[in-house]
Amino acid sequence: MRHLARLPRGLVMAAATLSSLVSCSSESGPRDAEREDTAEESTSAFIGAEDAASLEAKLDARVRDLLARMTLDEKIGQMTQAERTSFNATNPTTDIRDYGIGSILSGGGSTPEGNTPEAWRKMVDEFQKLALSSRLGIPLLYGADAVHGHGNVYGATVFPHNLGLGASRNANLVRWIGRATAEEVSATGVHWTFSPCLCVVQDERWGRSYESFGEEPEIATSLSAIIDGYQGLPGRPGSILAAAKHYVGDGGTKFGTSTTENYLIDQGDTQVSEAELRARHLPPFKAAVARGVSTVMASFSSWNGTKMHAQKYLLTDVLKKELGFKGFIVSDWHAIEQIPGDYPYQVRTSINAGIDMVMVPFDYKPFITTLKAEVQAGNVAQSRIDDAVSRILREKFRFGLFEHPYSSDRYADSFGSKAHRALARKAVQESLVLLKNEGRVLPLASHGTRILVAGTNADDLGNQAGGWTITWQGMSGHHTMGTTILEGIRQTAGKRSTVDYVKTPTAEQSSGYDVGIVVVGETPYAEGPGDRADLPLRAEDQAAIDNVCGATKCVVVVVSGRPLILTDRVNTMNALVAAWLPGTEGQGVADVLFGRRNFVGKLPITWPKSISQLPSHKDDPGYDPLFPYGFGLKY
Ligand code: GLC
Repeated sequence: MRHLARLPRGLVMAAATLSSLVSCSSESGPRDAEREDTAEESTSAFIGAEDAASLEAKLDARVRDLLARMTLDEKIGQMTQAERTSFNATNPTTDIRDYGIGSILSGGGSTPEGNTPEAWRKMVDEFQKLALSSRLGIPLLYGADAVHGHGNVYGATVFPHNLGLGASRNANLVRWIGRATAEEVSATGVHWTFSPCLCVVQDERWGRSYESFGEEPEIATSLSAIIDGYQGLPGRPGSILAAAKHYVGDGGTKFGTSTTENYLIDQGDTQVSEAELRARHLPPFKAAVARGVSTVMASFSSWNGTKMHAQKYLLTDVLKKELGFKGFIVSDWHAIEQIPGDYPYQVRTSINAGIDMVMVPFDYKPFITTLKAEVQAGNVAQSRIDDAVSRILREKFRFGLFEHPYSSDRYADSFGSKAHRALARKAVQESLVLLKNEGRVLPLASHGTRILVAGTNADDLGNQAGGWTITWQGMSGHHTMGTTILEGIRQTAGKRSTVDYVKTPTAEQSSGYDVGIVVVGETPYAEGPGDRADLPLRAEDQAAIDNVCGATKCVVVVVSGRPLILTDRVNTMNALVAAWLPGTEGQGVADVLFGRRNFVGKLPITWPKSISQLPSHKDDPGYDPLFPYGFGLKY
């Protein structure tokens, strides 16, 4: 039975206020452990002992009733997810009604004209109206990748990507981030976020390292609390469906085993024993199921040579039966077509393995006709179809879509709000990891200091936000609303201080200052395009470090989706800070550099001396990184 007894703590948020969380500094706020108990008590006290079994029985009765009235075509329509741009003259949007399409998504960067919350609500409602005009009027689910806030949408609050949140180790903070994100997603009419990624990264050459909370499963297990924030009390305002992804072992693929052209490790093969898979990659999903996660997204990757989308043992026997997952499994983008074989084989194999909804995402008609033919040929049992559709309908009932199918502007004021940005700023503060601080060059004096700021990522909002921001891959430059790290430094430095900015200063330009702050790192990427065989600093950043650190005391801040190889220059730096991908609130970095907040972050991933050390793990014999997992200094 769904773990309704452990109702999500999201409800506590109704009692507390966001500002009360944001105002208390991380030093004074109790760590999550104490809050956990408090949250539990408040939850049960706050909502009373609603009889979970009666909730369950009501849901099941509604599902059985509707399922009994559905045709095979209508059932298969519910199992179909199409991308919003798949509708055109050949595939008109009226297909949503005529085929009973169960879900539509925005792929990364797939946004309506204007890309405002109002434009999103209008788009989703237009699709919904067509869905409701079908024979049975079953509402559709609209999904998007709100993976660090609703990053696709202009003006959204963009939080640190998961690896930075992993450095905070603060589940309560992450739960609030889930709630704030859910409000901003709701403000756009979207029902479902394809988040959190509960991947446990093992090799940072992987382009999705920053989507992981860290290399040890306990971080993702603890920070799966974001699901409570996303889902709150299902069906109540501001509550959205979450998707625990990518099930299972996506972070453990072996370098060089990618099956996708031009990728090096993403979507590759996780070559581990079942014991290792269960110990290292499964625990976060177990926690997600216990929290009542609504959906799980299957992984592109393979386990010991078999694609996850074809793994009946892991999808059905382990996730659904052993762990008791009651929601539905959605495939990844075109992922069933990575199963070796022809299309009918790919369709029947993935559905029989336990996939309940297929993110086609474009050619939805061939998918529908193929699956129907497979059922009629007896290759896919009607009972498998009924199980898949029951799971989908149950989540639509649970989240109130039948009662409230259309969008609401209830949270329009929350979108990109000051309160959310203050929460993001706090998350940035807690994500920073102090790796070196020689001669106490930090914290910076906020008065009477001549400061030089340099580096490619000092004044680039796009680089500090990273992938999944406005576009799938993200982009450099000022593409949304926020504060760069340089702007934060300028706002924090005292009146009698001076702050100069030279992106790549010469040695001469670097002299005459009390301190130099060199903000280096990566440009944005997402997924396989972010796979790298090596992880050097960019040449212009190397030059900036050499010139600034050669001329004055220097602080190097690394803004990247993962540790970079900087061993050959670390001795020239007085201070070194890992800032990961902080998102839109760069002020949070300045807060800590000037000592308004202390460092609390701990490395969520090993910082290697050289690329040849990868994959590197704290329990490896001879483990000898530049900075070990869990390392982090304080003032
Ligand atoms: C992508 C990703 C997945 C994302 C989905 C929809 O390929 O693997 O994380 O949710 O497609 O954008």
